[in-house]
Amino acid sequence: MRTRIAEIRETDTPEAKAAIAEAADILKRGGLVAFPTETVYGLGADAFREEACARIYEAKGRPSDNPLIVHIAETAALNRLTEAADPRVLRLAEAFWPGPLTVILKRSAEVPDRVTGGLDTVAVRFPSHPVARALILAAGGYIAAPSANRSGRPSPTKAAHVIEDLEGRVDMILDGGDTTVGLESTIVDLTETDARILRPGMIGGEEIARVLQTTEAAEAAPKVTAAKEQEAEIALAPGMKYTHYAPKGEMTVVSGDKEQVILYINRRAAGSDKIIGVIASDENAPFYRADVIISCGSRTDAAEIAQRLYAVLREMDARGAEEILCEDFTEADSTGAIANRLRKASGGRRVFVEADGTIR
Ligand code: TXA
Ligand code: MG
Repeated sequence: MRTRIAEIRETDTPEAKAAIAEAADILKRGGLVAFPTETVYGLGADAFREEACARIYEAKGRPSDNPLIVHIAETAALNRLTEAADPRVLRLAEAFWPGPLTVILKRSAEVPDRVTGGLDTVAVRFPSHPVARALILAAGGYIAAPSANRSGRPSPTKAAHVIEDLEGRVDMILDGGDTTVGLESTIVDLTETDARILRPGMIGGEEIARVLQTTEAAEAAPKVTAAKEQEAEIALAPGMKYTHYAPKGEMTVVSGDKEQVILYINRRAAGSDKIIGVIASDENAPFYRADVIISCGSRTDAAEIAQRLYAVLREMDARGAEEILCEDFTEADSTGAIANRLRKASGGRRVFVEADGTIR
């Protein structure tokens, strides 16, 4: 298959409009289009065409029980996806949509099983990226899309990542430049009495709780809990049980005393004949001695670290890192989203170094 690639920087030029119309046409005919959102690139199909959605799994090499997120471009589009209107959804929609929040709702009978993986719930998100919004509207209002990476690779934050993973496997790629958020949306499950965070993202549980609580009587205020990672991985968000975001090199997250972290990493690099990569903060990067050193941003700037992380992981692969040692970035990570992705990329491998150099 030949993949059309169109660059779009502003949505209202004649060229951009033509490219979006062409992409919408492909979707309406059952094809696949990769497109930018503010979080990561998505691989889209018309959500109401089962056979088109089936092609997403083929193109990604994705296990077929892992459900897709339906992307909409107006809150009213919820009506076709879910039967009972939940007041909590409208409150969250008002506060966070368009934006990086996905809600899990009881599905309507019309949503294809191919989208929900046979569950009685559906994931819905209203992205803020102008290209995504224009495309969704032009294509009829409902695009089912997972992240546009091959299964097991980091989610794409640049069109080049999508091209690397999916060229020749999809009909069209819309290149909207680098994504601004960089990590996938927060997923909140609203199918039970207590809202539950299934996947942390840059919108945090506390913010969500605050919005849900404002209009409730205090004693009836809904709670927001973070699903225990293990529980979520197995039952709740089926996708969380698969290996995710894994770079080719074996990755270890190193946390603890700042100076001792640097000493520890330099010692590991000096004592190894493998190609060692270090994922560093701007503040510490000058102090490392290793084969590949890439800074992911300032230790105190979560938005910057999130925006760059997946590109850094891919860069480590491109530069042949066989072992990756990564700072933990906890100072900036108020929502837990960065720690969650580092845990997944590292398969949970971590080392803690005390101020006296003791290693735990
Ligand atoms: O930011 C994002 O959410 C990006 C962009 C493209 O919108 N999309 C994304 O999709 O990250 P994906 O497929 O890579 O991740 C979707 C996650 C998976 O872990 C999946 O299991 C979960 O959402 N999910 C989908 N439907 C679900 C449902 N009904 N119940 C629970 N989890 C669900
Ligand atoms: Mg994904």
